[in-house]
Amino acid sequence: MALKFPIFMDSHSTTPVDPRVLEAMIPYFTEKFGHPGSRNHPFGWEAEAAADRAREQVAKLIGARDPKEVVFTSGGTEAINLAIKGVAEMYREKGTHIVTTAIEQRAGLDVCKRLERLGYQVTYIPVGADGLVDVEEVRKAITDKTILISGMFANNEIGTIQPVAEIGKLAKEKGIIFHCDATQAVGKIPVDVEAMGIDLLSATAHMIYGPKGVGALYVRRKNPRVRIAPMIDGGGHERGMRSGTVPVPLAVGFGKAAEICREVMAEEGVRLKALRDKLQDKILSSLDEAYLNGHPEKRLPHNLNISFAYVEGESVLMGLNKEVALASGSACTSATLEPSYVIAALGVGSELAHSSIRFGLHRFTAEEEVEYVGNRTVEVVTRLREMSPLYELAKEGVDIKSIQWKAQ
Ligand SMILES: Cc1ncc(COP(=O)(O)O)c(C=O)c1O
Repeated sequence: MALKFPIFMDSHSTTPVDPRVLEAMIPYFTEKFGHPGSRNHPFGWEAEAAADRAREQVAKLIGARDPKEVVFTSGGTEAINLAIKGVAEMYREKGTHIVTTAIEQRAGLDVCKRLERLGYQVTYIPVGADGLVDVEEVRKAITDKTILISGMFANNEIGTIQPVAEIGKLAKEKGIIFHCDATQAVGKIPVDVEAMGIDLLSATAHMIYGPKGVGALYVRRKNPRVRIAPMIDGGGHERGMRSGTVPVPLAVGFGKAAEICREVMAEEGVRLKALRDKLQDKILSSLDEAYLNGHPEKRLPHNLNISFAYVEGESVLMGLNKEVALASGSACTSATLEPSYVIAALGVGSELAHSSIRFGLHRFTAEEEVEYVGNRTVEVVTRLREMSPLYELAKEGVDIKSIQWKAQ
């Protein structure tokens, strides 16, 4: 296979739309353009039927019993906002305490920060060196004012898969609502809201080879019936929980993407894991002081996150970014390069937190691409280290931490 550049290996940020998904969507932009709320003519009936079919396809992928439990949103961020703020407002009389984790995606963290400013209390559970939450810590954090546990299924940087079913069981036992941000997990690994005791679940289409601009919040209707305050008021669409015309073509794409994932997930996971392991082996066996971030087994099959001591993640990206799309753990803020809070939460120290690179394989990743990316990563890191005085000193046996740097 002739390689096509740049190679996309950043599938935790988004995924390419599957051609079958696009094909399913197109008629809903053209001849089938009706409004699903138009109850009195065939254009409306057709649009409503399409949205309901999509709802059913999404429901099936996450193990929801009733398609009515699926509320379409504009994406994962909106679903998370609706879940956490919706519960906070609805159950304010009952309590004002929320338990979440330190490594949530920004949407979850920022919603919690806002709620703190509004007078809620939030406990952020730390993670261990492997990125896993200890369920006992969650149990200890619960008070008689706790109204919500909100935690992610799989992390978007290190791919670590949390003990979701155990958290769900704990939430049931305590009678607390459990919201799970499953944006990275849905369509990649089995997710079952019934078996795992999830009451609210956030998902997004663009992470499962569907279009950008549509997501869903699963809202449990039975055992218990969960109520949330809407964040967007208007025509009362989505059973009053999310007003606004359902974007039918996008919803159809989401549904189709979900259906395909259900069919291919098991096989695709095995294939991607084998490719990921190959990439990991190539890198870790060719370079010294390269460290895997996250749990070696309990992680998404297509995720790989490695810290390369003595080099900046950003420099590795710059060395590669014309050929390969990857992500570093550092987010460029206005003046400084902040290390990723997720990698920092693992307790690896600031140097290694600055040197992490995230690889994300996907449905269309070919073996040749993995080989190319593995070889090039090793070359670039080796070249950067050759230019690094710190690496040279370390190789000469100098303890870098013991060096007394002269003040400027
Ligand atoms: C874990 C996680 N939650 C939420 C989101 C936000 O989803 P969206 O981009 O659909 O708003 C993302 C997106 O990267 C994510 O990785």
